[in-house]
Amino acid sequence: MSAFPQFQKQLDRCMIADRNRLRSLFNAQKWDVLQAELEQSQNRADQRRQTVSALFGHSAYDSGLPVVQQIDEIAKQIREHRVVVVCGETGSGKSTQLPKICLELGLGIHGTIGHTQPRRIAARSVAARIAEELHSPLGQAVGYKVRFAEETSPNTLVKLMTDGILLAESQTDKFFNQYEVIIIDEAHERSLNIDFLLGMMKRTLQERRDLKLIITSATIDAKRFADHFGTTKGPAPIIEIAGRTYPIEIRYRPGTAGILPATDSVLLMAGKMPAIPGAVPGDDEIDEETHLLNAVDELARMDRGDILIFMPTERDIFETAKLLKHHKIPGDDSVRKTEILPLYARLTVAEQLKIFKPHTYRRIVIATNVAESSLTVPGIKYVIDPGTARISRYSARSKTQRLPIEPISRASADQRAGRCGRVGPGICIRLFSQEDFEARDRYTTPEIQRTNLASVILQTKAMRLGAIETFPFLDPPRSPAIQDGYKTLFELGAIDSDQNLTDIGWKLSKLPVDPRIGRMILAAEKEGCVREILIIGAVLEIQDPRERPHDKQEKADAAHRQFLDPDSDFLGYLKIWDFYQGLKENLSQSKLRKACAQNFLSYNRMKEWSDIHVQLMQLVREAKLHFQPRKDDYGAIHRSILTGFLSGIANCSERFDYTVAGGTGQGKFYIWPGSGLFGR
Ligand SMILES: Nc1ncnc2c1ncn2[C@@H]1O[C@H](COP(=O)(O)OP(=O)(O)OP(=O)(O)O)[C@@H](O)[C@H]1O
Ligand SMILES: [Mg+2]
Repeated sequence: MSAFPQFQKQLDRCMIADRNRLRSLFNAQKWDVLQAELEQSQNRADQRRQTVSALFGHSAYDSGLPVVQQIDEIAKQIREHRVVVVCGETGSGKSTQLPKICLELGLGIHGTIGHTQPRRIAARSVAARIAEELHSPLGQAVGYKVRFAEETSPNTLVKLMTDGILLAESQTDKFFNQYEVIIIDEAHERSLNIDFLLGMMKRTLQERRDLKLIITSATIDAKRFADHFGTTKGPAPIIEIAGRTYPIEIRYRPGTAGILPATDSVLLMAGKMPAIPGAVPGDDEIDEETHLLNAVDELARMDRGDILIFMPTERDIFETAKLLKHHKIPGDDSVRKTEILPLYARLTVAEQLKIFKPHTYRRIVIATNVAESSLTVPGIKYVIDPGTARISRYSARSKTQRLPIEPISRASADQRAGRCGRVGPGICIRLFSQEDFEARDRYTTPEIQRTNLASVILQTKAMRLGAIETFPFLDPPRSPAIQDGYKTLFELGAIDSDQNLTDIGWKLSKLPVDPRIGRMILAAEKEGCVREILIIGAVLEIQDPRERPHDKQEKADAAHRQFLDPDSDFLGYLKIWDFYQGLKENLSQSKLRKACAQNFLSYNRMKEWSDIHVQLMQLVREAKLHFQPRKDDYGAIHRSILTGFLSGIANCSERFDYTVAGGTGQGKFYIWPGSGLFGR
């Protein structure tokens, strides 16, 4: 076999993924096998090179796209740097054009161009669009991989995927060797997945000189990314794409006099007990509905352009769909009827893709924030944004992850508006005021800062990323929070005294919920009370659904008495649950809302509770845990809860004073006056 320099030259013509193995064959002097495998790998690369040439026979860029107007600069920076940050307005062409620019630079031949998206539907639809622009069938030169679906071939040059998929792949391909370029799209979303990937990329770039990384972001905070990937020569270059293709008009439509603006009602929903004085539970939603219908009418009167409406939860989507079905939308008649389509994460990809199917008349898509970024749905001319979303947030007080509905950030609202104005001018109606918009946070807080550190540590360990203290996070968690996280995991039995994951730790890492809730569920499986614990676990993730307005405290207490259990407030939750389920079976939505108000239960929070319960149920089914019929056994339920909340144990130190066990120095606690155990 030839000498090393010649081998090195041959190696450069091979697929990157094969190079390590070829090197070890060389070192082991297995010349015959080496020769055969070199040829095979070079043939694969040659074939891919031919695919690229064939694609660019047809390729053309749409010169109207802002990215295309700066194509030379972008190409130059990618050629000259290993990491490039690209930011630009929505619709400027980042997702669809960057992979093509890479291909033209000769990248994608020796390894795939991996392109991540925060959501499945975006991965699939961006892949479809790039394939279409390159006149290549989807799944060939351009493919995608998401959970439960993959369309790729050995010759796939550009592979779209969710960031979760790329993270999962890193478990078997630690240095991402199948990729020559990785594009992390929508990095400003700063999900935990994205932050893990950015950390992994930082490490991988030190190991692999043949990898390029492109980070795209909305026009925000690009400097953070550039600094993170800086070298001794300075930060990574940032390319700012100027301008947008079509204008988007923003119309602010806050609730009119007497009607609560959307954000106020959100505060109301998230309000702690006792609720806001004078607030009549249930009253606000009627106005919200009119408010929304007015916006729909305003847009529908313009023409028959499609409308995208954002809603915080699946349940809100169903209710809005129902509302719209019973509403006479301007322009509709006996023949032409607006089509209503829901879009949320739990739908299958095939169901989600219905929003792209051609149709003859107007369509209204009602979506959660799965539609917030990346998507181009050509028919959509209008967006209606109530300005709220369900945002997962760790509550240090309750020591669990909660899922409150909150006002979204300005960056999120801009992404939502950016779903129109893509193939022509668009209009976005915000159901809140401009002052409200301007007072909002600029960006959504990165998920790592909203997440229980115990859960981040658990994932870091499950992915075998080494000590969390040294993992190169963009925003490294602070040391006290890390210590607290370790303590929680130890308390849950998820790690041993050497901080290694135990069997329980591994099981917990596969349950994407707060570790305490997860631990309760695992304990409940043993105790045979999974059904009961899912109901209780779900309510612990929201604000207490009981309302206790200042001016109606006595009435509220009287109404709540029916739910009291003399032995346990947790069993009391089961009573509220059963009461609500009973009502739900027998009452129409408006009557249900009224019944909730009469019993001083927040209709919205009851809905949230049900939503989260559905999610937990799904998760437990996926994890294949065993269910049993409900027995409401006091011992089993309380043992399960305690397993998750050992640190919630308190000793009764004086008549009504409790001190948290374990000497955490958190001061004294008292039993809440609304509790069935109060005064006992
Ligand atoms: N499926 C499609 N059908 C028609 N036009 C499309 C489609 N996908 C993209 N386009 C056109 O290409 C433009 C750029 O889309 P692209 O997704 O690359 O933008 P982007 O900069 O990534 O936007 P965002 O920040 O919203 O993700 C769109 O504004 C639209 O004009
Ligand atoms: Mg994009």
